[in-house]
Amino acid sequence: MDAYKAIVTKRDTRAYTNQPIPDEMLQRILQAGRMAGSSKNTQPVRLVVIRDREWLKEVAECGKFSQPLLGAQVGIAVCCAPDGSDFDAGRAAQNMMVAAWNEGIATCPTSVHDQPCIIEKLGLPRGGEDPVTGRKGWRVVVIIALGYPEPSVPMSMGRERMRIDDYVHWERWVGR
Ligand SMILES: Cc1cc2nc3c(=O)[nH]c(=O)nc-3n(C[C@H](O)[C@H](O)[C@H](O)COP(=O)(O)O)c2cc1C
Repeated sequence: MDAYKAIVTKRDTRAYTNQPIPDEMLQRILQAGRMAGSSKNTQPVRLVVIRDREWLKEVAECGKFSQPLLGAQVGIAVCCAPDGSDFDAGRAAQNMMVAAWNEGIATCPTSVHDQPCIIEKLGLPRGGEDPVTGRKGWRVVVIIALGYPEPSVPMSMGRERMRIDDYVHWERWVGR
């Protein structure tokens, strides 16, 4: 699949088959996240990969709309340092989701509404224990659910995008 096709055909898919994701494919997906740029190359993003599906169900309890994680083969928690932005985390997340789709693996980002819950469950550093940078106060921005798409369930909820003319403004938002 070429890059443009992978980007424009990717949909946030919530139902997966029981087919496992091969390790080498998962490694490629993780590399795609690692290669995302960040502001001043501060590299504020870390990943916690959850392959234990029972554990993933427990982790899912920290979000209100985490149903995609319940049937996923793998979850990837996208963690961010306090001095990092959600934009940095989003770049890594989208890189991984597009790379996954290029391999035929569907994904859905899921929100984490209870940060104390996820920090506790995933053991994020609280007091400067991050061995690389000593940063404190990590958060989880999203957890990505991954799996091969279940063919009997629609790939997405079919939500449409706004018209391109409403989305894009040229030179200035409001015309002179
Ligand atoms: C930051 C973020 C958080 C999201 N959280 C959830 C979530 O908790 N549960 C869920 O089912 N989908 C979640 N989504 C997926 C959105 O619902 C999805 O991107 C949107 O409906 C468009 O889907 P489509 O690409 O299939 O059209 C999230 C998406 C983003 C970008």
